[in-house]
Amino acid sequence: MKVLITGASGLIGTELVKSYLTKRVGVNFLTTNKSKINQIQGAKGFYWNPSNNFIDLNCFDDVDSIIHLSGSTISKLWTSSYKKKIFSSRVDSTKLLYNSIKKLMNSHKVKNIVSASAIGIYPSDDNEVQTETTATSQESFMQNVVLSWEREVTAFESLKIKVAKLRLGLVLTKKGGVLGPLKIAAKFGLSSAFGTGKQGQSWIHIHDTVRIFIEAVEKKWEGNFNAVSPNPVTQTKFISALAKAMKRPFLLPPIPKFFINLIIGEMSHLILDSHWVSSEKVNNKGFKFDYPEVNKALESLLK
Ligand SMILES: NC(=O)c1ccc[n+]([C@@H]2O[C@H](COP(=O)([O-])OP(=O)(O)OC[C@H]3O[C@@H](n4cnc5c(N)ncnc54)[C@H](OP(=O)(O)O)[C@@H]3O)[C@@H](O)[C@H]2O)c1
Repeated sequence: MKVLITGASGLIGTELVKSYLTKRVGVNFLTTNKSKINQIQGAKGFYWNPSNNFIDLNCFDDVDSIIHLSGSTISKLWTSSYKKKIFSSRVDSTKLLYNSIKKLMNSHKVKNIVSASAIGIYPSDDNEVQTETTATSQESFMQNVVLSWEREVTAFESLKIKVAKLRLGLVLTKKGGVLGPLKIAAKFGLSSAFGTGKQGQSWIHIHDTVRIFIEAVEKKWEGNFNAVSPNPVTQTKFISALAKAMKRPFLLPPIPKFFINLIIGEMSHLILDSHWVSSEKVNNKGFKFDYPEVNKALESLLK
């Protein structure tokens, strides 16, 4: 079996590649950075540049499944030019994969694609539980990005390729991601929630994230799936669990919403939006989370 991974050098991709290589699964990966082509021992790198419509078609040789993770980070300030990059790095890269497979016609073996997506597709809601059938809209910038991205991924169905979209929650890892800046604040005893602190945080441990991708590929899942732990928590609970795991005090009152809006503008959605996302569909697929509780998940990453 061979997989092709885009965004393999990122937070999720790095762990996913490691796991596949341990299982002796063949890994090809696409990178937008030529210096990374030979960086992953045991895997074969290929260059692509979705903004110039360039891709090395050899990347598809003998590939059974595609895992699509690429996209420029959403943690940089959302200037209007950077917003275009957030959008195009997801939408145009998906279009390029689609057009390449279409061009290859019968000379490829790809049977399924599993793409990252995000719970940011759901409207923010303080109370409602969000399932895969919750109505989505293009109200916010992030909803527009994710909807457009998912639409391009769904197009693979017209090529008789099975499609799964994993709507990821906040992925918790040892390094970087959402825990990166929060750990620094906690280290100095400056942990604090944002806004009311009552907003839902739907999170998932990196270990379970990698397992869900592998299972979705192996079992050829089709459709949309929330990739979140079964137990979302309020932001206050999340931040206090983090402080506790780091043996630091959780002292400060929440930082007011108006102040956050003033400093980071539209990007404040990332920390003020509320998502109580259900993992029921993934549970019903027989997936068992190794880290269903936030305290244990954080302890495992911070010990
Ligand atoms: N981590 C989370 O909490 C989370 C939550 C929800 C959704 N997601 C989504 O899941 C995907 C993977 O997440 P991640 O945390 O692993 O992301 P990441 O660490 O930011 O890595 C994404 C990868 O995308 C590639 N990339 C960067 N800019 C690009 C561009 N302009 N065009 C094409 N590719 C580009 C890079 O690989 P190369 O340099 O090798 O090309 C990078 O390593 C992302 O699309 C992210 O939006 C993540």
